[in-house]
Amino acid sequence: MHALHRPLGRSGLTVSPLGLGTVKLGRNQGVKYPQGFELPDDRAAAHLLATARELGINLIDTAPAYGSSEERLGQLLAGQRQHWVICSKVGEEFENGQSRFDFSPAHTRASVERSLQRLRTEAIDIVLVHSSGDDVAILRDSGVLETLADLKREGKIRAIGASTKTVDGGLLAAQCTDAVMVTWNPQHTAEKPVLDECLAQHCGVLVKKAFASGHLSGPDAVRQNLAFVFSHPAVSSAIVGTLNPDHLRANVEAAVAAITG
Ligand SMILES: NC(=O)c1ccc[n+]([C@@H]2O[C@H](COP(=O)([O-])OP(=O)(O)OC[C@H]3O[C@@H](n4cnc5c(N)ncnc54)[C@H](OP(=O)(O)O)[C@@H]3O)[C@@H](O)[C@H]2O)c1
Repeated sequence: MHALHRPLGRSGLTVSPLGLGTVKLGRNQGVKYPQGFELPDDRAAAHLLATARELGINLIDTAPAYGSSEERLGQLLAGQRQHWVICSKVGEEFENGQSRFDFSPAHTRASVERSLQRLRTEAIDIVLVHSSGDDVAILRDSGVLETLADLKREGKIRAIGASTKTVDGGLLAAQCTDAVMVTWNPQHTAEKPVLDECLAQHCGVLVKKAFASGHLSGPDAVRQNLAFVFSHPAVSSAIVGTLNPDHLRANVEAAVAAITG
């Protein structure tokens, strides 16, 4: 997959077409997967990351709202930080089984400082606004984007963006950030105008829920979903969550087939 690494919009970052989502490394409460699961132990998690790296994956997605995910990555990626493009988020906190949102400048700054510590790094490659769904008001009125821009100027962040839930929010993010994270799969095509706008604006596109959070239909769904995802030329990378190294291999194979035709 190394030969297929591509620019993330105009951010200056180069990412693999498949990224590794890490909700399942740190959180198994309040998630929408078809089956319950245990968090992997350190050995299994290290093996998963080594497999990802071996397969040519350089992009890893985490968030403060993913339980112990950031903290575990800080530990697991020690000594190999420079290999990875790390994407984290701000705005959502998950505590005692419940999400809570805060997009204020003070919380944004404190959250990024905490992510830097947990991830044991001096700069986070990408920080996305982890939207509650009220995308436009958050991006326009909360001060979160201005604070992230300050942190970027200070060198603590390399690129900023938003994980959005609405078309209007995605369009706004496409116009004023480096990368938008959108839901895009054969069962969820409503955000196509956002992908079109990202293409026009040279804004990076990170796809979440390419496999509808594991609600896959039929034996060929992995191949079909990734063929669909990469049929839009704006897509920089699909962030797929898995704990299973065999699934990871199959996903890389399907992504390469989708891109190289
Ligand atoms: N910003 C946001 O608001 C937001 C929201 C959701 C997700 N995300 C990010 O996007 C990532 C992916 O989203 P997601 O985890 O919700 O959904 P997803 O990537 O659509 O689906 C993940 C599920 O698919 C299963 N899976 C993966 N590869 C498979 C294969 N080859 N065959 C069969 N099943 C397979 C995984 O189970 P196994 O472990 O068994 O493989 C997992 O349960 C997350 O980890 C997170 O980083 C962001």
